[in-house]
Amino acid sequence: MDQQALKEQVAEAALERVAARHNDRLLLGIGTGTTAECFIRTLPAIRSRIEATVASSERSAALLRELGLPVMDLNSVGPLDVYVDGADEANAQLALIKGGGAALTREKIVAAASEEFICIADASKRVGVLGVFPLPVEVIPMARSHVARALAQLGGQPVWREETITDNGNLILDVHGLHISDPVDTETRINQMAGVVCNGLFANRPADVLLLGTSAGVEVVSGSALS
Ligand code: 5RP
Repeated sequence: MDQQALKEQVAEAALERVAARHNDRLLLGIGTGTTAECFIRTLPAIRSRIEATVASSERSAALLRELGLPVMDLNSVGPLDVYVDGADEANAQLALIKGGGAALTREKIVAAASEEFICIADASKRVGVLGVFPLPVEVIPMARSHVARALAQLGGQPVWREETITDNGNLILDVHGLHISDPVDTETRINQMAGVVCNGLFANRPADVLLLGTSAGVEVVSGSALS
């Protein structure tokens, strides 16, 4: 099975999980990236049950609109029922690295506003220790060098993603070489650096369930099953 087929497989599994909820009028948080796009393309099948979607990027919002699905501002809806998004890395506790698509800040906001976070990924995203994928950090432009120095003190090698401006008008530093053995601590420390808007660790609010696409089928990893 190729990687695209694995992504489509987990997208279908996420749709089934969302459709099994009892709500007649679903409020859905929608992620960003190629796996999230596979999920978006499944949504027309439950169109009549979708009250609103809130997208974590302009790119996902555009695709949702193209498919005729209602896209709302988060300020215009209440708490969301469920958030579905991909990840760049996931560990056994369902802590994630996200932000490969530079949407980390809005992704973290929409995840925080959702009752359940379903993460969908192909099996290549599962790791023992987070940090092989460079950790994205969104920074206010004037703080780029200051934050880079602080990240270097933390033991990483920050690299400015020069071609990228986020949907919020900020910059991305990708931090290489971090061995993130305590993701909650690392997430909290980086958030405390002046000039950091957000970092791509989702550890204080990990996923609730991880649907992993493997050639043997979809593996369901549940956060509550681990505690
Ligand atoms: C975007 C993200 C994506 O979820 C992450 O990069 C995974 O993307 P893909 O599904 O394309 O592998 O965090 O900011």
